[in-house]
Amino acid sequence: MQVLVVGSGGREHAIVRQAAASSLVEAVHAAPGNAGIARQATCHDISDSDKEGIVCLAREIDAGLVVIGPEAPLCAGLADALTEAGFKVFGPSAAAARLEGSKAFAKEIMTAAGVPTASFAGFTEYSAAQAHLASISFPAVVKADGLAAGKGVIIAGAMAEAEEALKSCFLDRRFGDAGLEVLIEECLVGHECSVLALCDGETMVPLEPAQDYKRIFDGDRGPNTGGMGCYSPVPKVPNEFVADIIDTIHRPVVEELRGRGIEFKGVLYAGLMMTADGPKVLEFNTRFGDPETQAILPRLETDLVELMLACADGDLAGRELRWREERCVTVIMASAGYPLSSSSGDVISGLDDDGGLEGVQVYHAGTAPGGDGGFVTAGGRVLAVSALGATFKSARDRAYEAVRAISFDGMQFRTDIAAEPARSE
Ligand code: AMP
Ligand code: GLY
Repeated sequence: MQVLVVGSGGREHAIVRQAAASSLVEAVHAAPGNAGIARQATCHDISDSDKEGIVCLAREIDAGLVVIGPEAPLCAGLADALTEAGFKVFGPSAAAARLEGSKAFAKEIMTAAGVPTASFAGFTEYSAAQAHLASISFPAVVKADGLAAGKGVIIAGAMAEAEEALKSCFLDRRFGDAGLEVLIEECLVGHECSVLALCDGETMVPLEPAQDYKRIFDGDRGPNTGGMGCYSPVPKVPNEFVADIIDTIHRPVVEELRGRGIEFKGVLYAGLMMTADGPKVLEFNTRFGDPETQAILPRLETDLVELMLACADGDLAGRELRWREERCVTVIMASAGYPLSSSSGDVISGLDDDGGLEGVQVYHAGTAPGGDGGFVTAGGRVLAVSALGATFKSARDRAYEAVRAISFDGMQFRTDIAAEPARSE
């Protein structure tokens, strides 16, 4: 079978690698892919926003499965267009992807389904939102309703910061249309965890949890990013706990959608805060996480393509996933200026053979060919270096050994990824 993966980041590189290793797959294609993905897949220069182009490509290669990685094409209805054209698709319809595309819609569904989340109020006008600030305590969280690449959330320590955030959404239009509606939320306290579940419209099968690091600097300082590192599994969230989370969070949400005539097929990602009162939802994503995928998939032994086809076919019931015992630690290497800007064209050295270390995979997130047959930077997040190990310490040591063998001007990476589980193991 020919598999087409839509997207161009580290997450898509991890999916492509896993698909290329499937016994069901003859060849993998990517649209548009990136310089690293091109090692395992045929890359086609078609943007993920070009619905017609992607449907044509799926026809041309006679795709047996199309996997949609990022949120924007899902929200724009790419899965709908492909399904209509007769293809099997891994990824939800636009109606279901609204769970990620509109935080206000996600809150409406959670409220109706009785799913625990931060208390909130929604606003479409600056003056009403600003007036609301007088009645809340700080810190508080200001969120743009729509898609903002992980950057539309501002944790405001005091009134002045919250006002600034409201101004940047409503008056400066920093997030464009995504910021025309704003949520002001209670700030939850606890540790974060991402729990993802495969869903075929009805049956849900959880993946092992992962822990993402959102801030740019060590010690969770600095602005939020798309994610600077990750580890899986999460010792604080054992499998019994995951089963409860699926029953109290994922399942009620999927059933609430179903009650509204919306079927969820694909992967439902709940970003959770483990609070003193139990897990509460920070956000839903309707796709694999990035960098969660780069820490979760290296541990998955079950054939990913078989699972994704089962989601598309409504055939997940009775499937149990097999996982490697080893831990996985993923460190993101970002370019100069990230997350406020990014730097392109910096020559990357040390990228041969995944750093040449056993158990290490280097996924490309933002690279382009260049620099004497090698690679140059081409984006904010450049590489995701994942390593397996018997313990968090050994996985972490391997990941950082590989990271230290790679270099490019202005590179940034956190040095504390998985330090906590390595200490407590
Ligand atoms: P989101 O895109 O909604 O997941 O938010 C990005 C990050 O902002 C989360 O991973 C949290 O670190 C933080 N965050 C979002 N909502 C809240 C909240 N209600 N309380 C505390 N932190 C939050
Ligand atoms: N790692 C967060 C995300 O994929 O949205």
